[in-house]
Amino acid sequence: MEIVLNFLDDLGAINPLLAPIIEEAQTHGGRIYLRCVESRDRQKIVRLARTSKALHHPWIETPTSNSLFNQYIDRIKGKNATGMVVCFKHNDEIVGVINLNEIVLGAFRSARVSYYVSNEHQGCGLMTEGLNLFTAEAFISQGLHRIEAAIQPQNIPSKRLVKRCGFHYEGLAKGYLYIDGQWRDHERWALVHERETVGV
Ligand SMILES: CC(C)(COP(=O)(O)OP(=O)(O)OC[C@H]1O[C@@H](n2cnc3c(N)ncnc32)[C@H](O)[C@@H]1OP(=O)(O)O)[C@@H](O)C(=O)NCCC(=O)NCCS
Repeated sequence: MEIVLNFLDDLGAINPLLAPIIEEAQTHGGRIYLRCVESRDRQKIVRLARTSKALHHPWIETPTSNSLFNQYIDRIKGKNATGMVVCFKHNDEIVGVINLNEIVLGAFRSARVSYYVSNEHQGCGLMTEGLNLFTAEAFISQGLHRIEAAIQPQNIPSKRLVKRCGFHYEGLAKGYLYIDGQWRDHERWALVHERETVGV
């Protein structure tokens, strides 16, 4: 966590709009922490996904069954994806999930982030805290240059979230992702860490 807090300074240099959030995280440490998703989280994540279905649909597909959770765990155990839970510091409750998908290194050093909050904890700023820590951690540990978010144009809360976290709008991708039985248009948003080289 210390390294993440140090890196927040760099993130502030990338986007000065993040300064208040960074100051809050550095001074008070925030309300939440992140940790990697583990198999033991199955029951809690499946329950969160099921009880928040109305909030998540049709924006994202979440593991609403044990078999979908198994597929999810297999995916994030691979080289090209990671998954983290956003947890309250005071009681360790899982309030949301943030994933990094399609991690590509080399000269590209890019990945796509996806996320969802529990119905109960939406609209409290917890995902803003979580996504800021997550992107800082991903830039450090994955050595990324760019983190993208693909968002359906009508998904206002998600667009507000990435804007608050310093992402900029790059354009509309027609039929970009297959979600809930349809190829859906997505806006592409990105946060770029201006690295001088491809090194970590
Ligand atoms: C996208 C999603 C994660 C955003 O969640 P969220 O709860 O709105 O995001 P935050 O936790 O950052 O909360 C921000 C809201 O809390 C409010 N808030 C309340 N107390 C706050 C505090 N102490 N600090 C910061 N914000 C606070 C903010 O004003 C903001 O509301 P606003 O956008 O209306 O101004 C959520 O809507 C979701 O899970 N959607 C379904 C899945 C999805 O769409 N995933 C993305 C696919 S691209």
